[in-house]
Amino acid sequence: MNPHGPILITARDPDALRRAVEAARGASMPWVGPDDAGVAEAVVWFASSAPPSVPYRLPALRWIHTGWAGVDHWVDRPEWGEGVTLTRTVGDFPERIAQYVVGHLLAGSLDVARAAGQQEARRWARWTPDTVAGKTMTIVGYGAIGRAVGRAALGLGMRVRGIRRGPVSAEERAAGIAEVVDLDALLPDSDVVVNLLPATPATRRFWTASRFARCKTGATFVNVSRGSCVDEPALLDALAAGRPSRAILDVFAQEPLPADHPFWSAPTIRITPHIAGIGTPEAEGNAFASQWARWCRGEPLEHVVDRRRGY
Ligand SMILES: NC(=O)c1ccc[n+]([C@@H]2O[C@H](COP(=O)([O-])OP(=O)(O)OC[C@H]3O[C@@H](n4cnc5c(N)ncnc54)[C@H](OP(=O)(O)O)[C@@H]3O)[C@@H](O)[C@H]2O)c1
Repeated sequence: MNPHGPILITARDPDALRRAVEAARGASMPWVGPDDAGVAEAVVWFASSAPPSVPYRLPALRWIHTGWAGVDHWVDRPEWGEGVTLTRTVGDFPERIAQYVVGHLLAGSLDVARAAGQQEARRWARWTPDTVAGKTMTIVGYGAIGRAVGRAALGLGMRVRGIRRGPVSAEERAAGIAEVVDLDALLPDSDVVVNLLPATPATRRFWTASRFARCKTGATFVNVSRGSCVDEPALLDALAAGRPSRAILDVFAQEPLPADHPFWSAPTIRITPHIAGIGTPEAEGNAFASQWARWCRGEPLEHVVDRRRGY
């Protein structure tokens, strides 16, 4: 087996992605498309978009690199057999999602909508914008992206706590990092709760009615990882009861969000169409090019998915 053998590339725009990788590498690459004659010899698969509904037969495959950060599409895929490594993209998702979270929080606290409305009406009426400084943010799923959201919030003067699967060391605890068993105690004084859990069997409908009931009046719930983590009817009931008081949602159990979904008409919900951490050919291309350089040098790959944990 030639480890530098053909690279199967699947993407919405494979040409743009190929150009981005080759620009980052400064060299051409041995690409093969899914309909090309040599596809069965593919050793590497760079899958920028979701895998196809009918699995490929790739007997020489050794490594799959997905252009996404979440790997929930891959857990049951036959192509990810024993002896095949799956890596995921981190790229610029941490920066993008950190900007999304603080951007939407600040838009709310500064009341950007009111400023736009008053300008439209040529109306001069001063108000006192709120501030996020001094408020507490709890980030559930304190991984690559969660830590970047935390750094951005700290920069705005917020108090930040992170929850991860663990085990959490004494040093981490001192820095405000805890485990899920600690979450119930943290929710009642969290002004902002950010979900960044990966979609796994353990995180399915993690956000239940009883967890929402622990939130305080005035709190904001932000979901930027996967809709499957949230009991959506329970979130609607919780918002109606005012705990949490508003939600910023980028991801949903069903996407696209159906036109008749009750979320659309809830005034306390801000909806965006799964764009918080959108992939671009440049960022995905850079990430794959640096992994490919490691592969060619025989070095360990980064962001390898743990089959047992499922993320
Ligand atoms: N909206 C978008 O456009 C977009 C874009 C990119 C990514 N995402 C989503 O963001 C998710 C997070 O990405 P990431 O790169 O930050 O992942 P990551 O680095 O793997 O971090 C995941 C974090 O969740 C924790 N975790 C996992 N299972 C848990 C459990 N059962 N209980 C408590 N904590 C648990 C992990 O704990 P440990 O540290 O203890 O392992 C880790 O801290 C992705 O899975 C993807 O679904 C969304």
